[in-house]
Amino acid sequence: MRLDYITIFPEYFAPLNASLVGKAIDSGILATGVHDLRQYTHDVHRSVDDTPFGGGAGMVMKPEPWGEALDAIVGPDSQSQTQGERTVLIIPTPSGIRFTQQVAAELADYDHLVFACGRYEGIDARVPQYARTLVEVRELSLGDYVLNGGEVAALAMTEAIVRLLPGVIGNPASLAEESHSEELAGLLEYPLYTKPASWRGMDVPDILLSGHHAKIAQWRRDKAEELTRDRRPDLVPSSD
Ligand code: ADE
Repeated sequence: MRLDYITIFPEYFAPLNASLVGKAIDSGILATGVHDLRQYTHDVHRSVDDTPFGGGAGMVMKPEPWGEALDAIVGPDSQSQTQGERTVLIIPTPSGIRFTQQVAAELADYDHLVFACGRYEGIDARVPQYARTLVEVRELSLGDYVLNGGEVAALAMTEAIVRLLPGVIGNPASLAEESHSEELAGLLEYPLYTKPASWRGMDVPDILLSGHHAKIAQWRRDKAEELTRDRRPDLVPSSD
């Protein structure tokens, strides 16, 4: 998979070289490119924003540098595009569709993801409209809160997607029974324990020490349901 990031803060993406994502780059599963949006400006101030038409506070990202960046990265003559590959442009924005585990799994099937990281109040609305003439576009939100820009959201989405790629996680079975996985039917994960069996007066539940696999599976299922009802009632499947 190839990942490209368009941003006015290229230094935000240094963590890509760390941890699992960094290992995936080293092993050739991933290739990444970070592009400074200001390299596509032509004025002395290298400006990327302007005041909003219609008035209002804050600044809006100008369409021209974005248009040039998109032409260079996903346009028909782009060097980073390969014939026949599945490409999607992801625009992190608080007004996007919610980014979920299911969306992460869908995106893990693409060959090329390009993240357009906006700042200020957002990007001129004609930019996604233009981008849709070149590639599939998804405007995605991490959650119901506002970040200062798309960079942190792009990194979070990257991690959620990349860990699903074959060969990235040492033991793929560990993906199976985690929160939001299909195996747990969308429930939150049950509590986990390791040695010692007794610590600071708190004991690991006896059932987990019993070696009785069916009973352990039932206990975990019950705990996952209990936790989900308690913390995320919106995720509990309806009984009808
Ligand atoms: N940019 C700013 N806030 C965001 C959010 N909640 N999700 C994705 N991108 C964002």
